[in-house]
Amino acid sequence: MGAMTSRPLLKWNYYEPDVLAAWVAEMDFGLAPAVTEALHRAVDLGDTGYPYPALEQAVAEAATGFWKRRFGVDIEPHRVFSAPDVIEGGRRAIVHLTEPGSPVVLHPPVYFPFYSMVERAGREVVEVPAIQDEGGYRIDVAGLDRAFADGAGSVVLCNPWNPVARSLSADEVAEVVRVAARYGARVIADEIHAAILYDGRSHTMAASIDPDVVITVTSSSKAYNLPGLKAAQVVLTNDRDVEVWQEYFTPDKVGVGTFGLVANAAAYAEGEEWLGEVMERLHRNREILAGFVGERLPRVKMRLPEATFLAWLDFTDYGWDDPATVLLEQARVALTGGIPFGPGGEGHARFNFATTEEILVEILERMEETI
Ligand SMILES: Cc1ncc(COP(=O)(O)O)c(C=O)c1O
Repeated sequence: MGAMTSRPLLKWNYYEPDVLAAWVAEMDFGLAPAVTEALHRAVDLGDTGYPYPALEQAVAEAATGFWKRRFGVDIEPHRVFSAPDVIEGGRRAIVHLTEPGSPVVLHPPVYFPFYSMVERAGREVVEVPAIQDEGGYRIDVAGLDRAFADGAGSVVLCNPWNPVARSLSADEVAEVVRVAARYGARVIADEIHAAILYDGRSHTMAASIDPDVVITVTSSSKAYNLPGLKAAQVVLTNDRDVEVWQEYFTPDKVGVGTFGLVANAAAYAEGEEWLGEVMERLHRNREILAGFVGERLPRVKMRLPEATFLAWLDFTDYGWDDPATVLLEQARVALTGGIPFGPGGEGHARFNFATTEEILVEILERMEETI
């Protein structure tokens, strides 16, 4: 555990100061000017009290506009509800919107806080590990079918998929939604990384396949680096869900941060020019990373990320259970170890490339020296 450094963010203030950070999903690109201005305005106004309906309305309108422009979906603003963060939104969705007591399916390797989210919802996890072949990672749809047949009431679908950096095709999303629909089960779609896609890909909102089956949880917090401000969106495209939610989540129970709402509204409404610049940097970094790994770390395997600012590195050739521990100790670089992501995570580590080119290259050179 390190002392506080002059750099912001958890990623730079957790390990010893000499450690270079490529772990937690935070970006080193500062803030969108629209977000900075909106937050400054809120501070100047002293807008530090409880959140209020006009702010939530501003988020709902800005977010639905963003999703329309980027994903081509028409979501009515009254279907957008606030939650403190995506994980808490997902937990609430499990508790309130899935069959009481029903187990929840995860598709590992997958964002590991899903495991504790399900536990905190008081439910059992059913693992349906991804299929991995030459084509990369795929959801095991037949496995999902079996899990639902055995009584699971929902699946948490992570698309884009952290840590494997996949953006599922419209057909893949549709397969998952349809198998859930056949069993009257629910799909809780975590789409927090959906704004960060490469190579002209487009994001399929699962709710666009079947609005009644899907509950969407998302936030501008990954694309705009706002997770500490505590505001996410739960999008309820099923009318019954809206009723249940409104009845339970009265304003005293929402727990969202006022500055989080201010920042989300600004990011969604006015942040896309900045996001375009971020995408150019991420695109360049993705090329640097892939080029370096291919040429100078050839025993490390990686697929080009289709989405997210994360790359899933396969170190199995080295025989290490947990490459992140080895790299932290020997190279003084912090990646996220693969084991907590569930079956398939051993021998892997997740690499966050949302940093400056200079830091990125130094991290890679340190890794090269060690391995
Ligand atoms: C797939 C996924 N879901 C959720 C989160 C966490 O979001 P929040 O901080 O809003 O709970 C992350 C953070 O990296 C993530 O990658």
